[in-house]
Amino acid sequence: MNRTFIIIKPDGVRRGLIGEVLGRFEERGLKIVAAELRTIDTATAIDHYAEHDGKPFFDSLVSFITSGPALLAVLEGSADTWRTVRTMIGATNPADSAPGTIRGDLGLEMGENIIHGSDSADSAEREIGLFFPNL
Ligand code: RTP
Ligand code: MG
Repeated sequence: MNRTFIIIKPDGVRRGLIGEVLGRFEERGLKIVAAELRTIDTATAIDHYAEHDGKPFFDSLVSFITSGPALLAVLEGSADTWRTVRTMIGATNPADSAPGTIRGDLGLEMGENIIHGSDSADSAEREIGLFFPNL
């Protein structure tokens, strides 16, 4: 089987969208193999988003992702799960996130964009290890 990692970000949790978002993945046929509601600490957030360190939006990204409880989950499918999930999430820029996608249906902000999904098989492995080291 093949796994990827998602975070329902603090805006998604605050807006009561956990059921809506996890439901979409379950309806699609993906299996939730781990899930935890957790306020991410700053050090872990910096590590998670290390590829963006130094960019103008980095500090606000870290303070946003640590601003309240987030829903962390590992999803399992048969193959290319990270890519399936990214397609379901939609584009980062709300102007490009198509209707039918999570961001395209539920959000309008570049910053508060509801959900994170790993962007490659390597990222999925790294992020699962960072957030669920015992999995
Ligand atoms: P994520 O990592 O959260 O799943 O989002 P993503 O792959 O779609 O986008 P990424 O390029 O990894 O950027 C991470 C988050 O940073 C914010 N961002 N702001 N102002 C900007 O130009 C800008 N670019 C990125 C977004 O909130 C994005 O989700
Ligand atoms: Mg990303």
